[in-house]
Amino acid sequence: MAALLSVEEITLRFGGIVALDGVSFEVEAGHIAGLIGPNGAGKTTAFNVITRLYAPDQGRLEFDGRSLLETPAHRIAEHGIARTFQNVNLFTSMSVLENVLVGGHRLGRGTGEKEARAMLEYVGLGVRAGDLAASLPYGLQKRVEIARALAAKPRLLLLDEPAGGLNHEGVEELGDFILRLRDDHELTVLLVEHHMGLVMRISDHVNVLGSGRKIAGGTPADVRANPDVIEAYLGSEAGP
Ligand SMILES: Nc1ncnc2c1ncn2[C@@H]1O[C@H](COP(=O)(O)OP(=O)(O)O)[C@@H](O)[C@H]1O
Ligand SMILES: [Mg+2]
Repeated sequence: MAALLSVEEITLRFGGIVALDGVSFEVEAGHIAGLIGPNGAGKTTAFNVITRLYAPDQGRLEFDGRSLLETPAHRIAEHGIARTFQNVNLFTSMSVLENVLVGGHRLGRGTGEKEARAMLEYVGLGVRAGDLAASLPYGLQKRVEIARALAAKPRLLLLDEPAGGLNHEGVEELGDFILRLRDDHELTVLLVEHHMGLVMRISDHVNVLGSGRKIAGGTPADVRANPDVIEAYLGSEAGP
């Protein structure tokens, strides 16, 4: 099967920092692909390159067989890519429903109120539609971001640390939710997450970054047993 997303030898520097150093990986259609690595490894930067917020210094980026490097960030949703943010990025003075509506619209695919409400029901937030986004606990704000991303009807969904703010049961439930999401919406998911239990449980394939380089890629079991991965995590708070 051809890859839906192909990241090829991407390099991105911020001044003297090489945030991504010749990174390559592919994401198969229909997969949940984990992207892990210690803090500062380049995971969020990879998301920012894929969504065209950052232009790489070198490398190629293809989605569904076509280069994305000519696509401006504001048109990325039209190509079928949506994301959530590591640090929640909601309009705090708007309601939950308005965020899904405005978000869907801003992402380039207008969403009707009926559709937005249905999306909120789907993520379990129907009863919170009228609440101010800022009044929700952090974990639920992350869920609103997922509803907003889904409103753009993506083929590829990028989730940046969706388990932030969740307790143990919440993380378990999120795992089931992401699996259901993939199946119900025929999505491909690229998942950045520090909860290794979650990543290893739901991912079909896992790529590992360390200091801007890809250090491993394979099945969850392969990656977990890889000495380079274990070493990259030594001294960091979250083990593989
Ligand atoms: N906008 C930016 N300007 C300068 N440096 C950045 C910027 N974004 C990320 N970096 C740096 O790039 C490296 C990778 O960061 P990031 O992609 O956020 O890591 P991760 O998400 O894996 O924790 C870090 O050294 C970080 O400080
Ligand atoms: Mg990050």
